[in-house]
Amino acid sequence: MKGLKPFEPGFDFLAKTFAGMEEVLSTELKQLGAKDVKIIKRGATFKGDEELMYKVNYCSRTAIRILKPIGVFSAKSNDELYQKVKKIDWTKIFNVDQSFIVNANVFYSEVDHSHFAALRVKDGIVDQFREVVGKRPWVAKDIPDVYIDVHIAHDICTISLDSSGESLHRREYKVAVDKAPINEVLAAGMIKISGWDGKEDLIDPMCGSGTIPMEAAMIAMNIPAGYYRSKYAFFTWSSFDEKLWEKVKAEANAEVTETDCNIIASDRSEVAVAITKRNLKNAGLHKDVIVEHKFFDQIIPETKKGILIFNPPYGKRMEERGELRDLFKGIGDVLKQNFTGFQAWIITPNIEAAKFVGLRPSVKHTLYNGPIETKYLKFEMYEGTKKDKGDSDDRKRGNFGDKRREGNFGDKRREGSYGGRKREGGFGDRKRDGGYGSKREEGSGGSNREGDFKKKRFSSTDKPRFGDKPEYGSRRFSNRKDDSKPADRKPRRPRKPREEKDD
Ligand SMILES: C[S@@+](CC[C@H](N)C(=O)[O-])C[C@H]1O[C@@H](n2cnc3c(N)ncnc32)[C@H](O)[C@@H]1O
Repeated sequence: MKGLKPFEPGFDFLAKTFAGMEEVLSTELKQLGAKDVKIIKRGATFKGDEELMYKVNYCSRTAIRILKPIGVFSAKSNDELYQKVKKIDWTKIFNVDQSFIVNANVFYSEVDHSHFAALRVKDGIVDQFREVVGKRPWVAKDIPDVYIDVHIAHDICTISLDSSGESLHRREYKVAVDKAPINEVLAAGMIKISGWDGKEDLIDPMCGSGTIPMEAAMIAMNIPAGYYRSKYAFFTWSSFDEKLWEKVKAEANAEVTETDCNIIASDRSEVAVAITKRNLKNAGLHKDVIVEHKFFDQIIPETKKGILIFNPPYGKRMEERGELRDLFKGIGDVLKQNFTGFQAWIITPNIEAAKFVGLRPSVKHTLYNGPIETKYLKFEMYEGTKKDKGDSDDRKRGNFGDKRREGNFGDKRREGSYGGRKREGGFGDRKRDGGYGSKREEGSGGSNREGDFKKKRFSSTDKPRFGDKPEYGSRRFSNRKDDSKPADRKPRRPRKPREEKDD
């Protein structure tokens, strides 16, 4: 049987991403040195060599995977697919002792079942090995050596080697996750779409496991997206050039720098805050991101300008209970009252609920989180959009004029828990680091999250505000109480993740 005709797809590689992120991906690819970058649906094609493939895998923040096409042909039936797959010389691509996996997607084609298409491709590969080598390679669903991607659209089949293997969102900096963490690639794309340049303060007031602040820190410090990752599929290719790979990494790592801006992560959940701190510590970024246990309306920014990027909770049940509406209304109130001069970027799948923010978004960007359509909305809080500026300014100065609040907050808690943490030099120091992992904190959060908060925060006279926590908004204060200088930060390097210890 004759082999396939020489393959000329017009591009060397295809980077996949989330729908809505094609532009930022293409910009990033060009910055990394890719040539002839062309946007396609959920991705971009480009030209380049082996070195570029290593570099894009290591450095791209917005690509999910990098494919290298090895065969393209028309296939109008499963049998034709099988026969043509056998024309590719698989024995030159990997050896019989390596395991492999086939992933297929079919669109508008006679071959109309992805799973069956993947099976036929697998059969073609296995049968060719049996005929040529006398034994077959095995399929491994978990951690295979070789990842094969099959894309069939309008009866044209493209077979590619997936050079990334595990999705590139697996940065490997997280040691724990809280509920509904956002995908790392999506988080990086959101930061890039916002245009944040790493110079202004960035706040994620609902940080969950800390994905957005961690991606922001890596962007601000030029830490390659793959810095913490241990494996790429191309490591197992027979063509893998380890020296070249080490060179690519060394060059990218040499660009790592320091950042002067504040990246601030906070969450109402003690558990989420503890998890964010663990993840940051694991990545060696705990001195680069300020982490606080705070409800959104407790945050009073220390600067006049900055950016908020966050994904508020979303759930069908919250929607049914009408809680989303209160949540977004509350978010809008806080933005208007506390964040004049800032811009806020919020991602949500529920555009109807987002209308309750009560501000007109200046940008509405459609982004897909896998199959889920979301809107990424930009709100700009200009001076003068507040209903009652005088009242708001008073509050910023700490003159809440609200008996209940004054009565409820002892200065003790303010100083001990939140007050000017960074300014006092405490941020990132050992004592604080030790604190997050302490039994008390983990225990209280983990045992009964709601219960613990209620015990501590909710008084029967407080009215529910917004979000699904009745205690929301029952305490509010400024942390602008200390004008001492920020703690000096010594230039450091992020370090590789290490084994988790119970410290
Ligand atoms: C969808 S999760 C965010 C996930 C996060 N981006 C990540 O990657 O892990 C929403 C977070 O908002 C927090 N949250 C909800 N209402 C809040 C409020 N009023 N103030 C602060 N945090 C809040 C929740 O505790 C939860 O951690």
